[in-house]
Amino acid sequence: MHEAKWIFSFLGRSKYKLYSAYVMSLLFNALLAANTVIISRIADDVLTPMFENHQIPTSEVMRQMLPLLILALVIGVTAAIFRFLSNIFREQASQKVTFDLRNALYQKLGLQTRDFFLSNRSGDLINKCSGDVDVCNHFLCWVSFAMVDAIVMLVIVLIVFFSVSWKFTLCEMALAPLACIIALRMGKVVRPIFGDARQQLSRLNTVVQENIAGNRVVRAFAREPFEIEKFHKENDEYFELQLKANKTWVTYSPLLETVANTINATAVIVGSLLAIAGQITVGQLVIFTGMSWMLNAPMAQLGFLINDLQRFRVSCERVRELYDSSVEIKSPEKPVIMEEIKGEVDFDHATLTFDGNPILTDINMHIPEGSTIGIMGPTGSGKSTLFNLLTRFVDVRSGSVKVDGIDVRLYDLNQLRRNIGIALQDVFLFSDTVESNIAYGCPDTPVENVYASAEDADADDFVRKLPDGYDTIVGERGMGLSGGQKQRLALARALAMNAPILILDDTTSAVDLETEQYIQGRLRARQKKATTLIVAQRISSVKNADCIYILENGRITESGTHKELLEKKGYYYHIYQIQQGNVSAAESEVTK
Ligand SMILES: Nc1ncnc2c1ncn2[C@@H]1O[C@H](COP(=O)(O)OP(=O)(O)OP(=O)(O)O)[C@@H](O)[C@H]1O
Ligand SMILES: [Mg+2]
Repeated sequence: MHEAKWIFSFLGRSKYKLYSAYVMSLLFNALLAANTVIISRIADDVLTPMFENHQIPTSEVMRQMLPLLILALVIGVTAAIFRFLSNIFREQASQKVTFDLRNALYQKLGLQTRDFFLSNRSGDLINKCSGDVDVCNHFLCWVSFAMVDAIVMLVIVLIVFFSVSWKFTLCEMALAPLACIIALRMGKVVRPIFGDARQQLSRLNTVVQENIAGNRVVRAFAREPFEIEKFHKENDEYFELQLKANKTWVTYSPLLETVANTINATAVIVGSLLAIAGQITVGQLVIFTGMSWMLNAPMAQLGFLINDLQRFRVSCERVRELYDSSVEIKSPEKPVIMEEIKGEVDFDHATLTFDGNPILTDINMHIPEGSTIGIMGPTGSGKSTLFNLLTRFVDVRSGSVKVDGIDVRLYDLNQLRRNIGIALQDVFLFSDTVESNIAYGCPDTPVENVYASAEDADADDFVRKLPDGYDTIVGERGMGLSGGQKQRLALARALAMNAPILILDDTTSAVDLETEQYIQGRLRARQKKATTLIVAQRISSVKNADCIYILENGRITESGTHKELLEKKGYYYHIYQIQQGNVSAAESEVTK
């Protein structure tokens, strides 16, 4: 079973613990079997002579029986200790494996590109990292042990039974093939149902998650009934699949239990017949009846085991799918290590396509160290994607993007990204304090830097007015902030990194003009001047830039300073006219 092999490969040093737990479990079962043999000795060596010869005094019977009873007691206690230790070791080992597995999956998620997240439902990914990993843990900790127990018991029982009577053993084993056929059949039927159920659970989780994240949209459009209906539909399907899986189990499990009980009955009947025929002693009959549960119990549990085993195989496959997902963007094996990145940026015939559609075509920009450039263009023209190339969220199809004259693909990914402070267009704040959110990219930064960055982003004033100031929790579970306030925190977060390259993607679109002016002034006055790339829709945001580029349909169609672009009377000029109120948008469309 390759799934088990794969999960065992995660054991690392915990394998010694897990293997010790298996050995202890084995010893536990062996000791239980030994106890049955001791009791059979009591029956044959002490009780049978006593019944046959009533002259033996009770004290003599006790003298003979006592050491055997003490031995049985010692074995019983030792077995319990082995069981106890085995439980502790297996819990520790399996928890460690699932801990490592979760970490590995999380790291994998961190390396994925936007395309990966677009093609994988978040509910599914969360499920794989949590529920499916737990199923793997259950397999390691319980199912694998139940299987080892069953095999060990079977081997011990067969050895003991064969050594006593082969006729009895063959009768006992007659039903084993039937149990195997039922178990295999059940496994085959139940596995695809479990696969469907896990998929369905992911869909259900996605609906819940979207509803939580988008609850304001749902309420604003009064779509609660629609969302409830959507949830009910997914929930109903999940319910049906779970019922289907249970139905399979309910159908096959009694069959297995019947086979198991028949084995018990066979032991009593065949054992008694052999004893009456004088072919076995009373003690041996005790062994047969006493140990037949060791055969019976695993078979009675076979239904559960097959169920859990198939559940594990499905979950393990899903976890592995995520673990093995290819990482398209990674550091080169031997990255260029730069002591210091200065911040010169070059786009050199950079071209990007998605599914054959051109997104950026032949982009050429030379952005000297410490300069500021502005990028404007219609929505969807490729402005954000341009920065995705620089940060390597996506790689060019042809051409290159360089930092300090070196292709970004040659840098260590972390070194590259640590040298780029970025305020993304869609602001995301973590459920944490304002201070931690600002210091997110540089957790060890002194608090003075956090305050200074907040001041430059014009966030300090409003943050200090929050109930707990910089310690106020914001983000999903925290204090609600306005769009402009969130943008300013995102800007402060980018500034706090004091990186040589600063990307501001529509960062001031939600702040008023006065605030924008203030922020621009602060950015200009910053001691260490970063190479700054500003995307904006407002002329006011970019007009002081050293060079402004106009991007249309993924191509640079104009470039120059504010003055030069106005003289060109192209796209920039028209936007300028509209924003000055000199011409209406409709008129501008006509002019274009
Ligand atoms: N991972 C992707 N897969 C497919 N298409 C993509 C991907 N990323 C971006 N695009 C497409 O590339 C084009 C440019 O997107 P981009 O986000 O760069 O536009 P933008 O100029 O920043 O727009 P806006 O002003 O609205 O922010 C869009 O048509 C978008 O659908
Ligand atoms: Mg954008």
